[in-house]
Order: sequence, then C-alpha cells, then structure tokens
Amino acid sequence: MSDNNIFNYENGRWFKWTAALIIASLVAYIADTPAIKPNGGTWLGYTLGTIGAVLIVWLILFGVRKRAYGSNMGTVRGWLSAHVYLGLSLIVVATLHTGFEFGWNIHTAAYALMMFVIVSGIWGVIIYFRNPSLMGRALHGMTLEDMAKSMRDLDKQCRNLLPQASPSTKDLVEASAKVEVFSSGLQRFTGINPSCATTATVDAMSRSTAASTAGPEQEIYLLQVKKQQLIKRLRNYIRLRTWVELWLMFHVPLSFALLATLTAHIVSVFFYW
Ligand code: HEM
Repeated sequence: MSDNNIFNYENGRWFKWTAALIIASLVAYIADTPAIKPNGGTWLGYTLGTIGAVLIVWLILFGVRKRAYGSNMGTVRGWLSAHVYLGLSLIVVATLHTGFEFGWNIHTAAYALMMFVIVSGIWGVIIYFRNPSLMGRALHGMTLEDMAKSMRDLDKQCRNLLPQASPSTKDLVEASAKVEVFSSGLQRFTGINPSCATTATVDAMSRSTAASTAGPEQEIYLLQVKKQQLIKRLRNYIRLRTWVELWLMFHVPLSFALLATLTAHIVSVFFYW
C-alpha cells in the first residue's frame, strides 16, 4: 500500500472526521432522554436522519466527481477516502436514527438497502486492496493499444528469424501468433487461459536443446517468453477490470435504488405520519 492511500489520506483526515461524527452521534444518543421511545421522529432522530440523508446524496455525487476530470474540488483519491469513511459512518448514524425500531415497511427497506450498498462498498475496497495494481499500474504504464502493438511486433520479429529456424519452430511461432487472450468468457474472472498457444510454444521450445544454445531458435524462444509475459499482464488487467465492473453493477444500481427508497421513506414520514 502506498503512504497516501485512501485509508491514511492526509494523515487520516477523513478517519478523524468520521470518528468525531460517530462519537458525537453515540454521545447524543446516550445522553438523549426523549419522552417517547427513541425513533426517527424525536429531535435527535430527525437530526441523525437529516445527516444520514445528506450523506447518502453526497456519497452518490461521488460518481459525478469521479467523472469531472477538470474539477478543482479536491483529488479523486481524497474524495474516495472521504466516501469510504463517511459511507461506513452511516452504519452508526442511520442505526441510531432508527432507534432500533425495525419492521416490514418502507423505512426498514431503505435501511436494509443502505446496508447492502455499504456491504457492496466494503467488497469494492477489498477488490482494490487485494489488487493495488488496479490503481493504474496493471499495464505498467502501457495502454491496451501499446500492448497489442508490442505483441504484434514480437510476432513479426519471430517471423523474420524463421528462415534460419527449423520447420517445427515455424509451426510453433505461427500457433503462438494466433493466441487468444481468452478462449471463453468465464476465463475473464480467473485471468487464466489454460489453452494459451503462446505458453504452449514457450513450453515446447524450452524442452528443445536449440533454445538453450545461441542462435535463431534461442532468440525466438526469448521473444516468445516476452510475449507470454505481456499476455499474462493483459489477462491480469482484464481480470481486474472484470471484477471492478461486476462490482460496480451492484454498488451503483443499489445506490440509486437506495435514493428512490430513501425519497419514499422521507415523503411517507412527512405526508402520512
Ligand atoms: C450509502 C452509502 C453509499 C452510497 C450511496 C455509495 C454510492 C457510490 C457511488 C454512486 C459511486 C460512484 C461509482 C461510479 O459512478 O463509478 C461509488 C463509488 C465507490 N464506492 Fe460507494 N457508496 C456508499 C458507500 C460506500 C462504502 C461504505 C464504501 C466502502 C467501504 C464504498 C466504496 C466505494 C468505492 C471504492 C468506490 C469507487 C469506485 C471507483 O473508483 O470505480 N462506498 N459509491
């Protein structure tokens, strides 16, 4: 992890704000002695509910900030740090807002959806931290186009060496040139293609003595090893992207479902209670 990751961003600025919010909410809840049983309708209930609703709208706006590339409203990393900590604070703020009154109604539905969004958020953070390379380094500074071009160049260099190589090497080079990144959609989740033609070429060549003695065979072998490393990196990148995209398919729609349910919850409280 880097020194300024989302958890210790600016010496834990958002951790401190979140800790302060959680402590203030707990102290207020313990100190409060409402005339009725604690619930969303006491003054503290309304206060915590308002803080929670404002937080949720702000958390959703993160998607807008992420895409506002020209914005000077803080860095995306700073926003993400605040997003994660303040998002987690909702577990306390919203739970105290309910006064532990749950039931089969729109209010508890909004609460449950919020919890799903938070759990999906935690899942997202785990994906990021198990794969720090996702933060921009998966392709080692290369674009997908650079990578495709490098692989084509390696094939070309191998083909240029073929006139001096054996016919069996020619077949191996041609087989490797036809390599598929993945041969089934499911392999995107593992990042592994067990029938990788380039790996088969590298393995076959590593067993031949020609690859271990200086000459065209050995040059081809080394170029194929390079290609194998590139394609592995590409597969790893696609695996990470697949998991992030899958994750976003939960986190973002659930957030919007939460916004709709939260609106229904607030409207029903003010109009029908
Ligand atoms: C009710 C609470 C929350 C709401 C409504 C919410 C909503 C959102 C939204 C709308 C985005 C933007 C996604 C996009 O457009 O690409 C986002 C991103 C993200 N959220 Fe949340 N979130 C909540 C809580 C959390 C929590 C608690 C965590 C972690 C513990 C979390 C982790 C993340 C991460 C890591 C991203 C960044 C995704 C990226 O950079 O691609 N969220 N969230």
